[in-house]
Amino acid sequence: MIGKSIKIFEELDSTNNFVKVNVSNLENGTVIVARKQTNGRGRRDNEWMSENGNLYFSIFLKNDLHRNDIFKYIVQSSIAIVRTLGHYGIDSLIKYPNDCLVDGFKIAGVLIESAGLSKLDYIVIGIGINVNQLDFKELNNKAISMHKVLDLRLNIENLLEEFISNYNEVIKSEYSGIFNQYIEKSVVLNKSIIYDDKEFNISSIEQDGTIIIKNGSFEQRIAFSEISLKELY
Ligand code: BTN
Repeated sequence: MIGKSIKIFEELDSTNNFVKVNVSNLENGTVIVARKQTNGRGRRDNEWMSENGNLYFSIFLKNDLHRNDIFKYIVQSSIAIVRTLGHYGIDSLIKYPNDCLVDGFKIAGVLIESAGLSKLDYIVIGIGINVNQLDFKELNNKAISMHKVLDLRLNIENLLEEFISNYNEVIKSEYSGIFNQYIEKSVVLNKSIIYDDKEFNISSIEQDGTIIIKNGSFEQRIAFSEISLKELY
């Protein structure tokens, strides 16, 4: 269960960084929130715009974690986000592995960081949800917020509470059912991608994040650990 302890800061460089620096003082399931971040980070070393008004938080997990399960944590957090947005009447889809999209625009992202080898010491699930931001500057053609979709300013604390309750429900459920929901929400199946400079179709995604891509009769399996090192889109 997460959220027994929630720490809210006016400003942090990055909630993920805060967790990593304070690992020894945090209990399992702690949620760290910042109203704004001065060095918010996205995947592939991208900056994550982090002005006041959006939700930026990290979940700290430290018990019984395995590297092979990292994709499961991604699926669980993505479905918790989709359900949370759904609670507000927003229908979203998931772009593998964990971008949340509304009408093709990104509304939320997840950055998972971990320490340890096969048995992990801890993981940090960093989540950013675009809530009240109206101007995404050079990303206006790629990003959207809940406020823009609903034409309504939202309360960050209520949204976080809704997420935590969805996340706790999701982790109590059988993974196979949650994974099926992930597949139903996935936008990438049957879409083309470039891999090793060739065009492929994504034909399926497996429960551990392995994707199967096809080019004519040629089929290739790519493990999730390998994908995170490569640029797929
Ligand atoms: C992505 O889609 O690229 C992932 C974005 C993750 C952003 C969140 S905001 C809270 C946490 N702290 C960070 O520095 N990054 C994550």
